[in-house]
Amino acid sequence: AGLTSSFASHGKKFWGSAADPNTIGISQNVAILKSDFGGVTPENSMKWDATEPNQNSFNFGNSDQLVNWATSNGKLIRGHTLVWHSQLPGWVSSISDSATLTSVIQNHISNVAGRYAGKLYSWDVVNECLGEDGNLHSSVFFNVLGENFVSIAFRAARAADGGAKLYINDFNLDSNNAKVRGMVGLVGRVNSGGKLIDGIGTQMHLGAGGAGGAQAALSALASTGLEVAITELDIAGASSNDYTTVVNACLNTPQCVSITTWGVSDANSWRSGDSPLLWDSNYQPKAAYNAVIQDL
Ligand code: XIL
Repeated sequence: AGLTSSFASHGKKFWGSAADPNTIGISQNVAILKSDFGGVTPENSMKWDATEPNQNSFNFGNSDQLVNWATSNGKLIRGHTLVWHSQLPGWVSSISDSATLTSVIQNHISNVAGRYAGKLYSWDVVNECLGEDGNLHSSVFFNVLGENFVSIAFRAARAADGGAKLYINDFNLDSNNAKVRGMVGLVGRVNSGGKLIDGIGTQMHLGAGGAGGAQAALSALASTGLEVAITELDIAGASSNDYTTVVNACLNTPQCVSITTWGVSDANSWRSGDSPLLWDSNYQPKAAYNAVIQDL
């Protein structure tokens, strides 16, 4: 019983959830994490503004709590995220010199990924770097270093934690669209001199009825030969049909290793107004939960 054990019976690695010290402090939430989930992703505690709010001054209080909870409860951990233009402290955004920014990225990654070396299943090394047209969009990283920032980050992550699967992660990779094709192209360029990127994460923050392209997206991403993961799934309205469409797309894609929903209960969702998760705001399983279990 439970999402993870049913999912694992199809050869998948785990079904995960976003979590952090706030949500692992809620007893109903913890009971569900224990019964149904095989992995966690820190919702906010490993982001740059949380871990290095001031230059070279690191804060691991919340991320340590999450990692310790996951480790003692046998849950895999998807580290999230090392280089992202959002939730980024102002001192990083104001850097304009390429040598300085390179060493700042390397120092951040060696400290954060190095702290948890050997403990994480994977890292989202670079998050949300693409525009809807499939090209890298403006950010301090791209503006100062060009596309090379992606390779700089992945090399640093490999050096800091040689055992973690290194992912690139993005949103709106929900059909075989221009952004998916841009991702496939980017991964091919970055990996052309040797495998730096191990996996591609598609967040899948979907609207109601928005699951129809999931299979095409996963197939296109899997065409790179890398592993693929659904990393932040939530679907407005949480219809059974939408959820099972996404689950079936992963089941039909051998390289799709995991599904992570972006939380357990609507009570704690960043999109709580959309009721997008599998448990309602009273921590009761919704129809979509039963449909997914049935489907698995
Ligand atoms: C969200 C968190 O859920 C919120 O608590 C926070 O206020 C903002 O970030 N893409 C990502 C996640 O990669 O890190 C984001 O998480 C949701 C969108």
